[in-house]
Amino acid sequence: MSATSTHFRGKVAVVTGAGSGIGRALAVDLAGRGARLALSDVDPTGLAETVRQAEALGAEVRTDHLDVGEREAVFAYAEAVQEQFAAVNIVFNNAGISFSGEVEVSEFKDMERIMDVDYWGVVNGTKAFLPHLIASGDGHVVNTSSLFGLLAMPSQSAYNAAKFAVRGFTESLRQEMLIDGRPVKVSCVHPGGIKTNIVRNGTAAAGTDNAAVAALFDAKLARTTATEAARVILRGVEKGHARILVGADAKVLDVLVRITGSGYQRVITAVAPRIMPRRTSGL
Ligand SMILES: NC(=O)c1ccc[n+]([C@@H]2O[C@H](COP(=O)([O-])OP(=O)(O)OC[C@H]3O[C@@H](n4cnc5c(N)ncnc54)[C@H](O)[C@@H]3O)[C@@H](O)[C@H]2O)c1
Repeated sequence: MSATSTHFRGKVAVVTGAGSGIGRALAVDLAGRGARLALSDVDPTGLAETVRQAEALGAEVRTDHLDVGEREAVFAYAEAVQEQFAAVNIVFNNAGISFSGEVEVSEFKDMERIMDVDYWGVVNGTKAFLPHLIASGDGHVVNTSSLFGLLAMPSQSAYNAAKFAVRGFTESLRQEMLIDGRPVKVSCVHPGGIKTNIVRNGTAAAGTDNAAVAALFDAKLARTTATEAARVILRGVEKGHARILVGADAKVLDVLVRITGSGYQRVITAVAPRIMPRRTSGL
C-alpha cells in the first residue's frame, strides 16, 4: 500500500482486542492513516496504552471495556458506536485467546471458553455490526482466523476448531454478501506466528507447561512483528482480498496443505513431537 493511500481516511473502524498485539498494531496503523476508531478490550491497562498511541497520532478514539463473548454487550456496543459516529465502515473481529492441550486431557470448560471468545466472539461482532456496515454503503468485515484455521496441529484441537469455524463462517458470509449485492466486503485473516503475548497470556491443560509452549513460540515460531502483521492486513483489506495470509510461514504451510491435502498431517506428525515441549503428566 502506498504511503499516500487515502483508503482509510475518515472511515470508522472497530477493533476488538485492541489492547495488545495485532489489535494494538492495527489501531495505531489505522490512526496514522486517518481512521476514526472504536477500540475495545477486556484489559483496561493495555487498551489505555493503545488509546494513548492512537491519540498521539491525532485519531478520534472511542474506548470501551468489551468481552466479545458477551453477546448482549456486543450488540449494545454496536448500537452505541453507530450512534456516536453515525456510521461504521470496518469491523476487525480480532480479539482472541490461546489454549494448548490434547483432547484426552482438555476440560470442556477450557474448550468452551476458546469457542466463546475465538469463534462466538467473531460471530457476535459480525452479526451485531452487519446491519450498520450494510447501511454505511461501504462496509468491510475483517475476521481473524489463523494459520491454524488452515491446518491442524496436535494440542491445538480447541483453537483449531474455533479458527476453522471462523474461516467457514467468514467465507460463507463473503459469498452471501456478493450474491445479495450487499455493499460489504469480507476478508478472513490467517496470521502465522506473530510476536505478541497470545501464548504467554494463554492457558493450557493440566500436564502441559504453558511457559514452555510460550518459550518455544517466542523463540522459534513467532517470526513476524505485530506492526508488520497490521501492515499486511491493511493492505489486504484495502485490496478487498478474501484471504489474507500473514507471514512466510502462513504462505508456505498454506501451499503445503493445498498440495498434499490431508497428507500434510504426516509431515506434522513427524515434526511436531521433536519440537513441542513434553507433557509433565496426563497422557
Ligand atoms: N500471535 C499469533 O501468532 C497469532 C497467529 C494466528 C492468529 N492470531 C490471532 O490474532 C488475534 C490477535 O491475537 P494477538 O496475537 O494480537 O494476541 P494478544 O494476546 O497480544 O492480543 C489479544 C487481545 O485480545 C484481548 N482479549 C482476550 N479475550 C478477550 C475477550 N473475551 N474480549 C475482548 N478482548 C479479549 C486481550 O486482552 C488482548 O489485548 C487473535 O484472534 C489470535 O487468535 C494470532
